[in-house]
Amino acid sequence: MQKEKRITKMRYYFAPLEGITGYVYRNVHHRHFPGTDRYYMPFVAPNYTKHFKTREKQDVAPENNTGLTAVPQVLSNKADEALWAIFELAALGYEEVNLNLGCPMPTVARKKKGSGLLKYTDELDAYLDGVFRGIEARTSDMPPVRVSVKTRLGTDSTDEADALIRIYNRYPISELIVHPRCQKDLYRGTPDQEAFLHVWQNSVNPVVYNGDIRTPEDVKKICKACEETVVHSGDAGQPNRAVIGRDGTAKAPDRAVIGHSGTAKMLDRVMIGRGLLADPSLVRQCQGGSPITNEELAAFHEELYQRFDETLPGTKVVLSHMKELWFYMGNLFADGEKYLKEIRRAGNRTQYEAAVRVMLSVCSLKR
Ligand SMILES: Cc1cc2nc3c(=O)[nH]c(=O)nc-3n(C[C@H](O)[C@H](O)[C@H](O)COP(=O)(O)O)c2cc1C
Repeated sequence: MQKEKRITKMRYYFAPLEGITGYVYRNVHHRHFPGTDRYYMPFVAPNYTKHFKTREKQDVAPENNTGLTAVPQVLSNKADEALWAIFELAALGYEEVNLNLGCPMPTVARKKKGSGLLKYTDELDAYLDGVFRGIEARTSDMPPVRVSVKTRLGTDSTDEADALIRIYNRYPISELIVHPRCQKDLYRGTPDQEAFLHVWQNSVNPVVYNGDIRTPEDVKKICKACEETVVHSGDAGQPNRAVIGRDGTAKAPDRAVIGHSGTAKMLDRVMIGRGLLADPSLVRQCQGGSPITNEELAAFHEELYQRFDETLPGTKVVLSHMKELWFYMGNLFADGEKYLKEIRRAGNRTQYEAAVRVMLSVCSLKR
């Protein structure tokens, strides 16, 4: 039998990274390395006061997000507060708002927010129920808006994944972005691929993979793993798995494993965070393009440094932002540790600029 040829256009999303991928970073990245399909914004955290903070307002302001697709994110556990933020953001023109159910930071998780909400499944269900009822009940003067979810796969263990997917399947989540670690893992260990595959197979909503993608090969690996989970039944060429339906019972495969065209579904979207911070050209490489050059990195760095200087309050804050970026970008260099130390040690602009000049002119990029 002739093997069916499926061509999947992969979509690449830039993960939200609080304190780093604000509007300045997003714009500069997009100008120097176009090709990323969407930029997810670091979360805004509405509360009972129903006001955005000044920094949040700046980050979501449409004039600071022109020319790229940016998706705002809301961190909450109360449907009324989340709905307030969702409709405010929709009124600004955003067509999608993402709910953060992944943040692992103990200060957040302790308040049953982010991945801290995941083990309270009744409360999670009630939160999503309230949000999606509110979206459905919107009046005609409110703009339509899609709601996506970014989630880890548990609070204490990724064994919680099965209970979570049963909940997520009850709602019309536009995309389920899955980082297959649990809250307790923080960023330790490796993503739980098996737990991801369970969700990928059983989700009735489109799934996005997120976690530890650092090279184009990493994208290929997770796509291959997904492909291998689709069990073909004889010559029908159709997957034969049962999936968990919206009512929580097993049912025949539907769009969870079969694409709209009727052929087996492929993983066609990934979200990348730290890998893109480390190598801003990673999406281009995943799309078959060339690796970053010293000149490109220098130009990217120069504009970021300038724009941070114009928008952040004072040298100390600017340098601390740049040093945080070098924590990731330093990985691009084969022999950079000695020079990275100089960057980390720099106490003023002159020292910082000199250290970066040396780094960019003396060190060679890994190939
Ligand atoms: C410094 C930092 C800040 C982050 N901020 C957010 C955030 O605001 N919202 C969110 O959903 N995830 C946030 N994350 C998680 C990332 O979006 C992403 O899920 C995680 O880093 C795993 O993907 P990666 O391995 O490609 O980086 C943050 C992660 C880091 C390291």
